[in-house]
Amino acid sequence: MRAIDLIRKKRDGGELSAEEVRFLIEGYVGGDVPDYQMSAFCMAVFFQGMGEREIWALTEAMRASGATVRFDVEGFVADKHSTGGVGDKVSLVLVPLMAAAGLYMPKLSGRGLGHTGGTIDKLESIPGLRTRFSLEEFRRLVERHGAAIAESSEEIAPADHKLYALRDATATVESIPLIVGSILSKKLAVESQGLVFDVKTGAGALLPQLPRARRLARLLVAIARRSGRRAAALLTDMSQPLGFMVGNALEVREAIETLQGRGPRDLEEVCVSLGAELLLMAQAAPTAQGAQRTLRALLREGAAFAKFEEIVKAQGGDVRALHEPERFLPKAQETVELKAKRSGYVRRLHARLLGEAAHLLGAGRARKGEAIDPAVGVELLKKVGDEVERGEPVLRLHVNDRGRLPEALRRAERAVRLSRAPAVPPSLVRGRIV
Ligand code: URA
Repeated sequence: MRAIDLIRKKRDGGELSAEEVRFLIEGYVGGDVPDYQMSAFCMAVFFQGMGEREIWALTEAMRASGATVRFDVEGFVADKHSTGGVGDKVSLVLVPLMAAAGLYMPKLSGRGLGHTGGTIDKLESIPGLRTRFSLEEFRRLVERHGAAIAESSEEIAPADHKLYALRDATATVESIPLIVGSILSKKLAVESQGLVFDVKTGAGALLPQLPRARRLARLLVAIARRSGRRAAALLTDMSQPLGFMVGNALEVREAIETLQGRGPRDLEEVCVSLGAELLLMAQAAPTAQGAQRTLRALLREGAAFAKFEEIVKAQGGDVRALHEPERFLPKAQETVELKAKRSGYVRRLHARLLGEAAHLLGAGRARKGEAIDPAVGVELLKKVGDEVERGEPVLRLHVNDRGRLPEALRRAERAVRLSRAPAVPPSLVRGRIV
């Protein structure tokens, strides 16, 4: 077999066999297929797409390039993946919530990417908390506490690490088959019985257009099932940020409030809706409504928060930060408010632009490995559909470095649109794929 023949076959719209896909992936990881040939292959896939069988073969070949993690437990092991968004702190809530409901939740997460935040960066704003563990330590944490949140390891799907960097440099990140292979190769390397996908749609999402997001969601579910997992996906709104906080420590604060049953309505709804899918898969609830009631009770009655406390403590974090976040979580030196220039209704809070504003304040990194500022970010004081009076604050920027403010403020101003006529808030869950 030769790489050039497989590139040509894909370029001309042919379907590769599992053996051919494996040849390319193994060759690429082993150094026999060079970057330039893999780049050409990615571009061919970008234009010609891949069938379900090919995507499955790609996913399995990438997963098999690294380690897998197995758990020696009796209960239902579940996992969740979000395609990423702005203010998306769902994992911080969902992982302890589902562990409080009796499921095992091994969560390997990433750092911030572009305008979107990353669970690991957020969690690390809790003083002392460790997120780097060997896979063996990770396994033990999950078996003992029902859940752990750790940084995704290089040992998991190394083919994806190499391929993602190549796609990033060759404008092929947005290819749906390549996205599916990338996401699922990592997810399937961690043993679980059930997977739920939170596929975002709207201005701040990886795939802003609903039809493309739906196609991604369908494929994630279909390929996960081919690999023997139960799976479901929700399409959720990312036209405006989720909740009110964007920025690492700010988001941890909001997650704590949600775990205590007093979080924003939209964030709680997304968490409870995703969680209900997992409870149904685990056959731990008879109906989605029943599952949602159980999960809301775990939030209201303190069980989810208690589980989060246990996880944070097990990972070396200072639990005082959970009880007194004002005192023990990083806090910016000053805040600057953006006020409404006229009375009306909030029509738009553009998620990507607000993510960029937070990023410009220092919440994200421009280059891999750069330090971030956990304290800074953007706080929404209104959501789409809310009424505002002229002069009333709409956003609050949490700032440490005044030099970063003008650019961030400009981005934040562009994100906000007001209208005279009442504006309708976007519906939160746009679709369900089961
Ligand atoms: N997230 C991933 O893990 N991979 C992609 O290709 C895109 C988003």
